Amino acid sequence: MSFARHATGIASGIASGIFSGIARRFGARSGSHDVLRCAARVPSRPLRASLAAFAAACALGGGTALAAGPLDVRIGFAAPLSGDYANYGRDLENGVQLALDEANAQNLKIGDQTARFTLIAIDDRSDPRLGVQAAASLANQDVAAVVGHFNSGTAIPASRIYESAGIPMISPAATNPVITQQGFANTFMVIASDAQNAGWAGTWAVDVMKAKRIAIVDDRTAFGQGEADVFERTVREHGGKVVAREFSNGDSDDFGAQLSRIKAADADLLYFGGLARQGAALVKQMKQRSIAAQFVGGGGVATADFTQAAGAAAEGAMAWEYGRPLAQLPDGPRFAQAYKSRFGSDVLAYAPFGYDAAWAAIHAMVSAKSAKPDVYRGTLKTLSFDGVTGRIAFEPDGSLKNGASTLWQVRKGAWVPVTTRGG
Ligand code: ALA
Repeated sequence: MSFARHATGIASGIASGIFSGIARRFGARSGSHDVLRCAARVPSRPLRASLAAFAAACALGGGTALAAGPLDVRIGFAAPLSGDYANYGRDLENGVQLALDEANAQNLKIGDQTARFTLIAIDDRSDPRLGVQAAASLANQDVAAVVGHFNSGTAIPASRIYESAGIPMISPAATNPVITQQGFANTFMVIASDAQNAGWAGTWAVDVMKAKRIAIVDDRTAFGQGEADVFERTVREHGGKVVAREFSNGDSDDFGAQLSRIKAADADLLYFGGLARQGAALVKQMKQRSIAAQFVGGGGVATADFTQAAGAAAEGAMAWEYGRPLAQLPDGPRFAQAYKSRFGSDVLAYAPFGYDAAWAAIHAMVSAKSAKPDVYRGTLKTLSFDGVTGRIAFEPDGSLKNGASTLWQVRKGAWVPVTTRGG
């Protein structure tokens, strides 16, 4: 029995506020967990008794030893839940929620307590400034781990907040390699980085597709520009020729000026670093201008949103997407079915990575017998388990060991896998 569950209304709120404050003053990393566990030891104590004195005793390890109650473990989540990229964010959030639902149904023990995982989700609207605010808010709410963010542009600045708060951030979708190259102890990625994804795209373009005149367009975000840079470098290393390097004008979907230059440069392959909405606009405008160059997207393009938005112009488009096709993974079909039953829609993109990121934190806490980041972080670093997306284990810098990427192509209106690299 936990104090927070059984104390009523305002008294409960006041008590937990005081407890949290005191626990923080006593240096508790995951104050809420200490508070709930400590409160559970003295369920019969009248509320009107001195809450402050009780909380101080708890924080100091006092209290009468009774059977341990449930352990409230808060998992933070931050991604765009409104705006242009909300579909990706909700898809990710669903994946995390599915993991927490399953973990709660299994009544997992962390130490001698049954863990109750709850999700605290914040909309960062893909905005770096809001991403930092979301990170500060999650840290303030004593989350034990964060799954997030979706955009590299928010994940990079937010990771600094989590690092100073000592809270592990596990990226399920933000893929700029800088995220794990900052020398942080609390930054992890369960997805291949763009050093891999865009690197394979560049190698394939030159060595297999034999493209002779390559154009590159990016969306000027930390993600799109980052993957376009890796792609360009790899193309040059493989002896390929880049005839145009263009970028979008902010959020504008009008690529008229860029495509005029690309047409004049007679490109035979166009690589796009950015997400599905602008990618779809780009292929439509390529068709309108009779540009026959092969379109190849980086991550975040091979989604149903792209084929729907681009319509007939999508046919033949290619894109490199992180991971293996869900249908080919041992646990993929089960996951896809469970997702559909729970949320009434198909997986859009990164939900399986959200699910694996949440399970990485859960497995590490269970194995370390603690939800305190200082205690379970070491276990997370050496963790190895079979997730939906494949084996999850981390390099010393927190990046995924043996990440995979798949090249997809739109054939008869649907994305089909062409080849997989890595993994
Ligand atoms: N992979 C994309 C990014 O890093 C979503 O922003």
